[in-house]
Amino acid sequence: MSAKPKIAVFASGNGSNFEALAKACQTEELGAEIVLMVTDKPDAYVCNRAQEMAIPIATFQPKKFESSTAFERAVLKSLSEAKVEWIVLAGYMRLLGKTIIDAYPSKIVNIHPSLLPSFPGKDAVKQAIQHGVKVTGVTVHLVDEGMDTGPIIAQQAVEVVVGSIQQTTEAIHIVEHELYKKTLAEFIS
Ligand code: GRF
Repeated sequence: MSAKPKIAVFASGNGSNFEALAKACQTEELGAEIVLMVTDKPDAYVCNRAQEMAIPIATFQPKKFESSTAFERAVLKSLSEAKVEWIVLAGYMRLLGKTIIDAYPSKIVNIHPSLLPSFPGKDAVKQAIQHGVKVTGVTVHLVDEGMDTGPIIAQQAVEVVVGSIQQTTEAIHIVEHELYKKTLAEFIS
């Protein structure tokens, strides 16, 4: 049997997508191994989740490095030591730069809470509600140097709960947790 592809999940926040992916690896719905959780926020709740699931955490805060290139080189070193083959972004609130992107061509995937190219960037659910759309959704895409601009791999629509960012976000999260593991299972294998 060939070894499972090794993934690093990058996250900065709550980490519900990280946990959904980690559980999918345990149940083998996703035939991959999360060997590292990379974060720029050591106090984020995703760190508790990683600890509970015994997944190693690598913390890199850009402000502790002399340049963004030095920061990205340090991240790459830890990815290389862990033999990471795929980078999966799950609520990582930072744009990746050329140093990392060039090291993982077509091997970096992101999930975004809108039907791209609508509502890229921060607060995508709030943007959708403010525009009065009735349907928004979830996009899984490859990462390039732009803000949520890379080639789209999968999308799923979600109905807006009119006037409620919170309820719409909850509906989006339910879809995200299913769509991300299924898409990665197909895409990575
Ligand atoms: C998700 O909505 C994801 O699409 C976006 O950031 C959010 C992260 O949520 N990129 P969580 O931290 O996984 O709960």
